[in-house]
Amino acid sequence: MKSLALILCCFSSLVFCDSSQIVALENYNSTTPTKIQNVLDASKLYLASSDAAAKLGRITVTSNGQSKTLNQLLTDFDANGFHNGFPVNSDLTISTTNSAADTDALNGLLFISSPDMAKDPNFLVYSVRDQVLPIDRSNYNETTLVLLNLHVAKVATDPDTKPFFYTRVDGIKQPENTQLYMYLGVPGDGYTDPKLQANYKKLLFKNPISLLQPIGNPPADTVFFNNIEPIQYTLRSWHIRAVGGGIAFNVSRQWVDSTTYQTTKETTTGFTMSQRNTHHSTVTYKYTPNHDGTSGYMINTGDMFADMNVTSCNEGSVSSPAQSTASPVTSTQFPDTTTKSVTSLSTILTIAVMISNMI
Ligand SMILES: *[C@@H]1O[C@H](CO)[C@@H](O)[C@H](O)[C@H]1NC(C)=O
Ligand SMILES: *[C@@H]1O[C@H](CO)[C@@H](O)[C@H](O)[C@H]1NC(C)=O
Ligand SMILES: *[C@@H]1O[C@H](CO)[C@@H](O)[C@H](O)[C@H]1NC(C)=O
Ligand SMILES: *[C@@H]1O[C@H](CO)[C@@H](O)[C@H](O)[C@H]1NC(C)=O
Repeated sequence: MKSLALILCCFSSLVFCDSSQIVALENYNSTTPTKIQNVLDASKLYLASSDAAAKLGRITVTSNGQSKTLNQLLTDFDANGFHNGFPVNSDLTISTTNSAADTDALNGLLFISSPDMAKDPNFLVYSVRDQVLPIDRSNYNETTLVLLNLHVAKVATDPDTKPFFYTRVDGIKQPENTQLYMYLGVPGDGYTDPKLQANYKKLLFKNPISLLQPIGNPPADTVFFNNIEPIQYTLRSWHIRAVGGGIAFNVSRQWVDSTTYQTTKETTTGFTMSQRNTHHSTVTYKYTPNHDGTSGYMINTGDMFADMNVTSCNEGSVSSPAQSTASPVTSTQFPDTTTKSVTSLSTILTIAVMISNMI
């Protein structure tokens, strides 16, 4: 039985400045127009905020002789529901007439894309709203979709596991011979190159998946999964890339408690992410007695703390090294029993790719 593992490379980290950036509204408290640093000409500005419209109306951004209040940007969508974005140059300034206390309490962010992104017709930005947005890119070979999560206050009846930020992506339809990638955070320079180190470090999920062959037995196999479990992402921003053909899926601001999760098909892939903080989550794979299968997972701990364990099928646990981008993958051949589970516990964040390849 071939060992199942993702091809993962570890790189040492490099610090560099991207031409895209995120800035927090709470950091700009002045009535005097204040320059936002490191903005290139021909960029675009996008707002993601669940702050009160009245407060956003007291904040003004100005560039190239044009001014907008953030209130105006909040509802500036195209026919498909994506943000139009405000074209800006390096002279971009921001000013506010909100009180210092009001500024302090703002949760909104500005995403300033790079000039490359601003002129890419397949670069889409969406700040995730309650209603379901069906995204159909089946007629496009290339898609970069930036998803910006809004802060959602919790109510007394919400479980402790519920995070303050979330997106749910489901009904994913991905044609074979296409590539799907999901990344932490917003895209940076060279966002269209999946091999770039900076992109690799932010990779959460991809389909197809490359399997590691035993040494001396190349080439690596690639497995395409027809079924992708619904995906929930619980940090402020992420992005999805689809290459080589169109994909379709639904995006919504929904959160379904996934501390216990049952996969929907025998052969499937997906990822699980810790919710508000430290919680066990258990994934149970669908299983047919007397069939054989393999599973594996990838852990991405990029920019996160150590102290994370993943246990699979009660066969022991793997501890991830501090600050590693991706730990080695273990594989498990399913014995002939009825329940399979992956249990993960993390102080901050756990992301695992689950593979159940039942034959
Ligand atoms: C505005 O922000 C600056 C820099 O963060 C800070 O030094 C200053 O005290 C703030 N002013 C008010 C009125 O909060
Ligand atoms: C999309 O990709 C397919 C397959 O690579 C290619 O045949 C087709 O010409 C591309 N279409 C466009 C509009 O780029
Ligand atoms: C996607 O959303 C649309 C509109 O709400 C709904 O009709 C459709 O059933 C959803 N598709 C999936 C696969 O969830
Ligand atoms: C992970 O496993 C190690 C070794 O078994 C243990 O010392 C550590 O406490 C575990 N960490 C968590 C978060 O459970």
